[in-house]
Amino acid sequence: MKTLVIGTGGREHALARALSLDPGVTEVHVAPGNPGVAAVAALHRVDPLDGEAVADLAERLGADLVVVGPEAPLVAGVADAVRTRGIACFGPSREAARLEGSKAFAKEVMAAAGVPTARAFVCESPAETEAALDELGAPYVVKDDGLAAGKGVVVTDDRDAALAHAAACGRVVVEEFLDGPEVSLFALTDGSTVRPLQPAQDFKRIHDGDQGANTGGMGAYTPLPWAPEDLVEQVLRDVLQPTVDEMARRGTPFAGLLYAGLALTSGGVRVVEFNARFGDPETQPLLALLDSPLGTLLRAAASGTLAEVDPPRWKPGAAVGVVMASAGYPASSSSGDVITGVEAAESRPGVHVIHAGTAERDGDLVTSGGRVLAVVGLGDDVAAARDAAYAGVAAIDFPGAQHRTDIAAGV
Ligand code: AMP
Ligand code: GLY
Repeated sequence: MKTLVIGTGGREHALARALSLDPGVTEVHVAPGNPGVAAVAALHRVDPLDGEAVADLAERLGADLVVVGPEAPLVAGVADAVRTRGIACFGPSREAARLEGSKAFAKEVMAAAGVPTARAFVCESPAETEAALDELGAPYVVKDDGLAAGKGVVVTDDRDAALAHAAACGRVVVEEFLDGPEVSLFALTDGSTVRPLQPAQDFKRIHDGDQGANTGGMGAYTPLPWAPEDLVEQVLRDVLQPTVDEMARRGTPFAGLLYAGLALTSGGVRVVEFNARFGDPETQPLLALLDSPLGTLLRAAASGTLAEVDPPRWKPGAAVGVVMASAGYPASSSSGDVITGVEAAESRPGVHVIHAGTAERDGDLVTSGGRVLAVVGLGDDVAAARDAAYAGVAAIDFPGAQHRTDIAAGV
């Protein structure tokens, strides 16, 4: 099977790496990719948002399967453009990707499917926002309705800050504050069969102790030894399957990766958000533990035959990913800072490095984005995997590098 992965980030590097380990995959191509991906795949230039260009590239390469990594191309209909050419594509249609592309749409689908989530109001004017804030009370949660790369949500006790965020966004969803630990549970689906992956946890804030601004994610680990034994079963029954069934009932089946961001509240599991693609950085540790052929699973999901292949299996042990970000992140980012020590990190037992915002300049590896690398450590348990990951982080340096020191601590 010849595969083509679309995207540039850590998620795409992790996908390409896992595809390259599948004996059924003969070729891995990535566009546009990054210098880390070049070690496991052939790189090509393409505008990921240009569906016709992506489909042309897939045809030229004779790809049997295209995997669209990020949300923006999915929301732009890139998967539809590929499928129109008769090529299997892992990733939902433009219509189905609205589950991530519009928070208001996701709320509507959850209501119709009876999926537990925060009480919410869609607001289009300051007066509506004020009424919703006062109805739900503090802490206030205000979400931009559209895609915002993990930065569209403000959680605050400050009513004026909540109103200011709403005014800056236009259409917002104001929702009830959900307390309790967060879990990321991903599922592969072909539009009817749903196969959950192992639960993971992401660390969204920039600083230790969950302080500071929201980011795309500063680290993640899997599995979650503390999670209720029946969590996956319960989320499959109450969240994932009803959502997939509701999308099919509407005539816009969701096939691809359904990402449920969950809060385990005292009142039970609630959906915080849906995403329409693999999470980043959760995918980096998750795929490091996948013991099934990824290409086979993704192709089955893309072609309506997921029920016919073995459900995903997992290696024993745990994986922890620690993100190293560039100076200024998440408000800004710094490019061109020289990165050293990646090879030294990877020479340590159980460590590999996934690239995100990296580039090559005059033979040096340099930063080129906010989240630069994810250092993944494997071990017999979360503590051992965490030690491995941080030993890797200690070997890597670049000016202004930032990382959290508490990823998967105390688990
Ligand atoms: P989202 O983009 O919807 O995932 O939101 C980003 C982050 O904001 C989540 O991971 C949570 O940490 C926080 N958040 C979002 N919605 C809520 C909520 N209803 N209650 C508490 N925290 C939330
Ligand atoms: N890790 C959060 C996300 O991928 O949206």
